[in-house]
Amino acid sequence: MENLEQLVTQATADFTAANELARLEDVKAVYLGKDGSLTALLKGLGKLPAEERKSAGAAINAAKTQIESALAARREALRIAQLAARLAAESLDITLPGRGSARGSIHPVMRTLDRIEQLFRSIGFEVADGPEIETDWHNFTALNTPANHPARSMHDTFYLLDDAGQVRHDVLLRTHTSPVQIRSMLAHVEKFRHLDTMPEIRVICTGRVYRVDSDATHSPMFHQVEGLWVGEDVSFADLKGVVADFLRRFFESDDLKVRFRPSFFPFTEPSAEIDVAFMSGPMEGRWLEIAGCGMVHPNVLRFGGIDPERYTGFAFGMGPDRLTMLRYGINDLRLFFDGDLRFLSQFQ
Ligand code: DAH
Repeated sequence: MENLEQLVTQATADFTAANELARLEDVKAVYLGKDGSLTALLKGLGKLPAEERKSAGAAINAAKTQIESALAARREALRIAQLAARLAAESLDITLPGRGSARGSIHPVMRTLDRIEQLFRSIGFEVADGPEIETDWHNFTALNTPANHPARSMHDTFYLLDDAGQVRHDVLLRTHTSPVQIRSMLAHVEKFRHLDTMPEIRVICTGRVYRVDSDATHSPMFHQVEGLWVGEDVSFADLKGVVADFLRRFFESDDLKVRFRPSFFPFTEPSAEIDVAFMSGPMEGRWLEIAGCGMVHPNVLRFGGIDPERYTGFAFGMGPDRLTMLRYGINDLRLFFDGDLRFLSQFQ
């Protein structure tokens, strides 16, 4: 029975040498197949004398069992190795960040515009809108801004070109939101033409405006908020009350001084600039200009179709970019327009 032991040893060694499942099946056939050596031994039993047959059969079967279990063990080892190789080859790096959609946020200036509209709505203002490509007439002429006014210069204003590449003087990128005053008055007058007394006009308009200007505190595109209130008894005192009350509500602080400083605008008379100063905090005591305002000039009312003998009104134009900088403590205007997510994502 010595050669049975050898056979088992040899089979085990051959199985181990087979390093692929397909190859292992070939090796199996050599021992256990139809013409395999063990099969041959079993077939040979019949030729043995009857008294040896039983023990020889048992020995061969024991060897067969050993070979079969060596085969099964090798099969399992190869299966595991094959799986490990496949896992390594098809591996997923689960430490990579996911591709989920990033959470957006509202731009800080848009937050300010929304807030301003909301505060003015709460005291009965309507929200109006106007085109960013504006006519020269709405932007300048109807706002009592004469043809020789410096605001109309090429250095200050973005004009548009016609198809032949020539500068057009009838349209431009609006330099302020004030033309919305004219549009609002004309639309209002038209709407209430059938009434003897026109209801009051109370409108606010926020939007983009454009000027040839660019440094840390000026951008060629910036935002403005225009306000207009026209009625039978509207006075400068109303202007002061509305603006001062708005500013205290906007900054959520009574700790605020508001100053009206005489100034000039072609479309108001008298005109003033509005300054604010905080009475505490890092900006304590520093006056900052945040708006222009005044009583609407009679010529402007006339251009808006309104009788200046009967109605008066006030208007103001604020810089919401500046208001946003003050509210959040931002010192460079350009941060608003660079689109840098490190900055913008702080306003979620
Ligand atoms: N339109 C002016 C500007 O852009 C701001 C302004 C001043 C608007 C006085 C007004 C106003 O409505 O009354 O500088």
